[in-house]
Amino acid sequence: MPLLRYQIVGEGEEHPDSTTGARDGHLAVLLKHDHEQANAQVYSEIAANRLAQFLGIPVVLGVMATGESDPHAVSFASLRAAESALQLYDFTQLDERMDADEADVAPGAYMGSGHLTEIKRLCETYPVEAAAVAVFDLWIANADRALNFKAELDGGERGVLFALDQGSSLLASCSTIEASLDALSDGTRPKDHPFQKYLQGVHCGSMVERIRSLPEWAIESAMTYNDTIGNVTLDQQFLACDLLIERRKLLEEMVKRVLF
Ligand SMILES: Nc1ncnc2c1ncn2[C@@H]1O[C@H](COP(=O)(O)OP(=O)(O)O)[C@@H](O)[C@H]1O
Ligand SMILES: [Mg+2]
Repeated sequence: MPLLRYQIVGEGEEHPDSTTGARDGHLAVLLKHDHEQANAQVYSEIAANRLAQFLGIPVVLGVMATGESDPHAVSFASLRAAESALQLYDFTQLDERMDADEADVAPGAYMGSGHLTEIKRLCETYPVEAAAVAVFDLWIANADRALNFKAELDGGERGVLFALDQGSSLLASCSTIEASLDALSDGTRPKDHPFQKYLQGVHCGSMVERIRSLPEWAIESAMTYNDTIGNVTLDQQFLACDLLIERRKLLEEMVKRVLF
């Protein structure tokens, strides 16, 4: 898997103290905040992002960020992929054709967001990565993977696929934290996934295994902090972490039900 590169803005300036020519620079980011429809978006983005890093899931990297005007307000800064060097197909755009290419799709495939032939092609070009993203989504109860990934469909020079926007998972899969906690203990959600019917059992099975063998310390370190994160209290972070550790046991069943 190629290492995703992020977009530097401007040329930057030489750092006065650097002995090796390091420069002060700026990266482009998309700043995301807690929102009435995603009360715990910042926490869910950061926790899902850190879990993804442990597991080797290809999601764009994101970090916590604070502005100068209000040092107490936190945002999730999603580092912008350096897209100009890539031949990306943008699945994040609404597909005007919608179901026009329906004839091509597998029975039972996800039809909700268009890009039907391209989703099939993506899963054929990147079978390992597509399976990894889909199984991860089931684990974190991601309610919104459709329209939240991009890829070089022809394999490109390097072959890049990345997912973005985990802001509707974990404690933000529903509009309130309480409802999202319920969804985390409910193995029947989510009900569908954009890659369903196009994945290979062997790759999904390896990802289930990888998630089930993740040490509890890793899950705790990704999901629990010493501070409230946006609207999410420490108690809620620990609760989410416990539920996710339990939820791994349901994963094999969820994969069978949703993805095949
Ligand atoms: N890190 C990123 N790199 C490239 N594009 C991004 C990145 N983050 C977001 N985008 C673009 O911005 C859009 C909105 O971001 P997203 O995180 O999906 O927010 P929303 O919660 O509003 O859907 C995405 O659909 C995508 O096209
Ligand atoms: Mg989105």
